[in-house]
Amino acid sequence: MIAQPAIRVRGVEKSFTGTPVLRGVDFDVEPGSIFALLGSNGAGKTTLVRILSTLLRADAGTAVVDGFDVAVAPADVRASISLTGQFAAVDEVLTGRENLVLVARLRHLADPGAIADGLLDRFALTDAAHRRAGAYSGGMRRRLDIAMSLIGDPPVVFLDEPTTGLDPQARIEVWNTITDLARGGTTVLLTTQYLDEAEQLADRIAILHRGTIIQNGTLAELKRLLPPAEVEYIEKQPSLEDVFLALVGDAADRPDDSPADHPADRPDGDADPTRKEPR
Ligand SMILES: Nc1ncnc2c1ncn2[C@@H]1O[C@H](COP(=O)(O)OP(=O)(O)OP(=O)(O)O)[C@@H](O)[C@H]1O
Ligand SMILES: [Mg+2]
Repeated sequence: MIAQPAIRVRGVEKSFTGTPVLRGVDFDVEPGSIFALLGSNGAGKTTLVRILSTLLRADAGTAVVDGFDVAVAPADVRASISLTGQFAAVDEVLTGRENLVLVARLRHLADPGAIADGLLDRFALTDAAHRRAGAYSGGMRRRLDIAMSLIGDPPVVFLDEPTTGLDPQARIEVWNTITDLARGGTTVLLTTQYLDEAEQLADRIAILHRGTIIQNGTLAELKRLLPPAEVEYIEKQPSLEDVFLALVGDAADRPDDSPADHPADRPDGDADPTRKEPR
C-alpha cells in the first residue's frame, strides 16, 4: 500500500527469559504521518520502540527505519531518529537553554546557542530559558524533552507515552507540538495507553495485544468494527475506547506486568550519551 514507508516492521519477535512479549509484529508507517501504538501496561510498546531505536535486538523479524535495517545499519538508524523515552530525560540542574545547548554540542552541530534559541521559541519556552529545568512544570519539562530530541532534525521521531502524568492543559500543549511536527514532514511513532490521545492525534492506530497487532487502521476504520449503539432512538457512534475494550477484553485479560518496576525502563549501560533515555 505504501511505496516507501518511513518505518516497516515485519515479523518482529522478542522474548525475555523465555516469556514471549512480541510474537510477530507487522506494520508500516507512512512518511510524515502520526502512528499510534496502543496497548495496555506490559503489552510490549516500549520493547518495540527500543527495538526500532536500536537499543534492543529483536529475536526474529525485520525492522527498517528511514530505509535502514535496525539490525544491519544501526548507526544509520540512530542518525535518522530521535527517541523521547517514557520518563523525561532533561537534566534538572541545568536551565532549559543549557539542556538544549548540551545536546546540540553532543551532536557536534554548529552554533548550539542559535539552535537552542530557535527551539525555545518554537516550544514557547523562551521566557523560561534561563530557569532550571527542575523548576519547570510537567508540561514544560515534556516540551523541553521533545525539543531536545528534535535537535538535528531527525526525520523519524519516537515518543514513548509522551503525555503520561501531564494535566489536561499540558497534554494539549504536547499534542499541538506533535501535530506541528507531523505537519512539518516528520514521521512520528508514539505509544500511548490513552485512547483519547490516539483518537486526537493519530493518522493510523495499531492495537498491540498479546504480542501482535490485532488491529491497524484509521480511527474511522476502527470505529466501523463495532456497530453503532441505539440509545433512545439516537444513534451513538462507538468511541475508540469501546472498540479497544471490545478487542482487548477487560482487565482480567491483561498480560502480567509490574509497570512501576520493570527493567525496560532502565537505561542500558552502553547507551550512546547523545541519546535520550529514561533514567
Ligand atoms: N529487559 C527486560 N527484561 C525482562 N522483562 C522485560 C524487559 N523489558 C520488558 N520486559 C517485560 O516485557 C513486557 C512488556 O514490557 P514493555 O515495557 O514493553 O510494555 P509497555 O507496553 O511499554 O508497558 P507500559 O504501558 O507499562 O509502559 C512486560 O511484561 C515487561 O515486564
Ligand atoms: Mg512502556
